Amino acid sequence: MTFSLSSWSAGRLERVEQALSQWVPADAPAGLGEAMRYAVLDGGKRLRPLLALAAAESVGGHEEAALRAACAVELIHAYSLVHDDMPCMDDDVLRRGKPTVHVKFGEAQALLAGDALQALAFELLAPAGSSIPPAVQATLTRLLARAAGHAGMAGGQAIDLASVGRKLDEQSLRRMHRLKTGALLQASVMMGAACAAPGEAVESALADYAWAVGLAFQVVDDILDVTADSATLGKTAGKDAANDKPTYVSVLGLERSREHARELLQQALDALSRSALADVQALAALARMVVNRDN
Ligand code: IPE
Ligand code: IPE
Ligand code: MG
Ligand code: MG
Ligand code: MG
Repeated sequence: MTFSLSSWSAGRLERVEQALSQWVPADAPAGLGEAMRYAVLDGGKRLRPLLALAAAESVGGHEEAALRAACAVELIHAYSLVHDDMPCMDDDVLRRGKPTVHVKFGEAQALLAGDALQALAFELLAPAGSSIPPAVQATLTRLLARAAGHAGMAGGQAIDLASVGRKLDEQSLRRMHRLKTGALLQASVMMGAACAAPGEAVESALADYAWAVGLAFQVVDDILDVTADSATLGKTAGKDAANDKPTYVSVLGLERSREHARELLQQALDALSRSALADVQALAALARMVVNRDN
């Protein structure tokens, strides 16, 4: 029987939405809760949570830990989008088909919503009185902190801002993408894996898979910025050129960027074969979705 990603995803997406809605508070002071919920709920592909859940299932990981990891990584992602869209960064007015958080709630509230979502992500990973082994909680926290901070997303965003108007070579561009986007996608998979203790060989194969998927994701994001329209994307198309950002398209051109995304997909699938895990269908389908998506 052929694997259907949409059937596989449906129940998982529902669980993630329900958990996010339960965990992101409506009653944070002075309208902060409303801004946090606006940033997180009703939108987004939820790719990172799906990767975390798929990885956890492939290794038979602790279920509550996997759901918490999936939601935590989405909260970090949502916070990164709120800040990425602010006037001091990419200055975007549209996100997930809605006005951006700073447009709707003001810049100061957007800054705080991002801060609060980041803190909440880590709170989710260290719940009081749960059956998640403390060592697993610590590993999840460390993986997410590393991927969100200076050696991951925040570091990559710093390079992104410092690169406006500059011509990067492919190696520097890869490093920027790896950090700003790849690190969090890779962490999604590795956090899923950390919900069990699958051993070094499996971890290493999953890390290779996630590395390739993470980079492919941003290569495709760069391509879609040029080829898709704002209605399909739910965010303003053509912003990279308008903001004079170096991207895979500006450095390699459209055709070679597409080819590179296909190569990365093959690398990801090869890594899954190497993992010798019994069921990697969801991980394989998610990698294909990353490369073949239209938004
Ligand atoms: C967009 O990420 C931002 C990047 C890291 C390139 P997604 O394309 O996953 O955004 P949502 O979550 O679906 O809105
Ligand atoms: C964003 O990269 C990466 C983040 C850490 C949020 P982009 O600036 O290309 O993301 P979009 O295109 O605005 O979603
Ligand atoms: Mg940006
Ligand atoms: Mg942006
Ligand atoms: Mg982009």
